[in-house]
Amino acid sequence: MHVFLRVTVFTFVAALAGVSQAQAPAAPSDAEAKRDAADLAVVTRVCAPCHGLEPITTSLKSREEWEGTFNQMEASGATATPQEFQQAFDYVLRHHSSLNVNRAAATDLAAWLGDSDAVGQAIVDYRAANGAFKTLDDLKKVPGVSAQKLEARKGRVSF
Ligand code: HEC
Repeated sequence: MHVFLRVTVFTFVAALAGVSQAQAPAAPSDAEAKRDAADLAVVTRVCAPCHGLEPITTSLKSREEWEGTFNQMEASGATATPQEFQQAFDYVLRHHSSLNVNRAAATDLAAWLGDSDAVGQAIVDYRAANGAFKTLDDLKKVPGVSAQKLEARKGRVSF
């Protein structure tokens, strides 16, 4: 019994170590860069055939506006699987959407930042505790939020 337990614990720990080695995530920035490239490839495949990427890259829309555009494009003949549309939509929100950070819900903050829902929730919690954000620097004080990501979005934020 005693030996069995020790063996089990050892096996468990070894298994954990093995898993963490096998699935050691790339540095977040690497993983994000890869996801971004994959999503951009989908946007290019799904959206570019009719008009290139320019109408997208020169647009700045809210999430609701982008939803309307995606519906309109689908009605105009854009074809993709639901997953591809979702990937394209996520990419467009990360790169070409504007957001009011004092009104946005946690999930919208997360989508805009390209970060986890936990980060979105941290922003909402901070806002509830400290009042409205007035500047980008206020947002940078939220624990877990990337200053680099915020800087990259400074032209796409309203307060
Ligand atoms: C089957 C052809 C087709 C595909 C595929 C297509 N579009 Fe369009 N798109 C159009 C046409 C036609 C227009 C111009 C007419 C208009 O403004 O509705 C347009 C215009 C636009 C505009 C500028 C007008 C606006 O509403 O802001 C944007 C942005 C846009 N498309 C985004 C997209 C995105 C994102 C995708 C991929 C999910 C996409 N399009 C795929 C045909 C297409």
